[in-house]
Order: sequence, then structure tokens, then C-alpha cells
Amino acid sequence: MTHVLVLNGPNLGRLGSREPDVYGSGTLEDLKAELEAAASEGTSIDLRQTNDEATLIGWLHEAVDSAQPVILNPAAFTHYSYALRDAAALVTKAGLLLVEVHLSNPHAREEFRHTSVISAVATGVIAGFGFDSYRLALELIERRLG
Ligand code: DQA
Repeated sequence: MTHVLVLNGPNLGRLGSREPDVYGSGTLEDLKAELEAAASEGTSIDLRQTNDEATLIGWLHEAVDSAQPVILNPAAFTHYSYALRDAAALVTKAGLLLVEVHLSNPHAREEFRHTSVISAVATGVIAGFGFDSYRLALELIERRLG
């Protein structure tokens, strides 16, 4: 059984009503349902969201300790949180997959979004495909671990 941690950073709890022109009209609950439906039999989805940096870091430590692959949407932390980057590096240095995902394509948006301090320590990055960014990440993880 593969337990995939799907971790979401600040403001993503507002999906559905938050800038639907940018992020779509689906909620985090909808995303969870989509991923659960897409997951193969041997995969379970543990989707979480927090606005708190320390909590997100704690969840990455948990991923290391329990050897779980991670799909991470760091939201705005993407652009400046060195603490989150260091925690993400712990995951990939432990030999675990960590896929950075974004609903939007940050490179097509404001300049401050063009920098990700996470990407260099992630296994890979998928951005710009809405919920499909997560689905592609899940598919990738299943393919690599299957
Ligand atoms: C985001 C992009 C970030 O720039 C932004 O701060 C978010 C969401 C995305 O999924 O497109 O909160 O990570």
C-alpha cells in the first residue's frame, strides 16, 4: 500500500471561492474526491491543508519518518520559505518522491511568483493544469513506485 501525502499551503482552503478565474471553481474537498477516484487500488490519499508554516514543516518531517511520498502545493511559501525548502530537502534526501505542484502557472503571473525556493530540492514540478497538476503528480508517483 502506498500512502500519498497531499499537502497544501496557505489560502488553498479557500479553493472554490478564491479567485476562481485563476484557481478554478473546485474546492479542496472536490480535489480530494478526484484524487481518491483516480488513485489505483494500492494507493491511499491523505490530503491536508494548513495556513501555518510550522505545521507544513511538521508534515514533511512526518513524511520522512513514515517514508511517504509527497505531493506539495506550497502556495505562497513557494516563493520565500527557506524553512519549508529545508524540510522538503529532508524528504528528497531521504530518497522519497516530492512533487511540487501548482494549480496556476506561476511563470505566467506576477514576477514574485517566478521564483520557487522549493523546486531545486523537489523531485520535479508540475504547474498550470489546475487539479490535473495533482492528478499527474499522483500518476507519476504510482508509476515510479508501482
Ligand atoms: C499556487 C501559486 C502561488 O503563487 C500562490 O501563492 C498560491 C497557489 C498555485 O497553486 O497556483 O497560493 O501555488
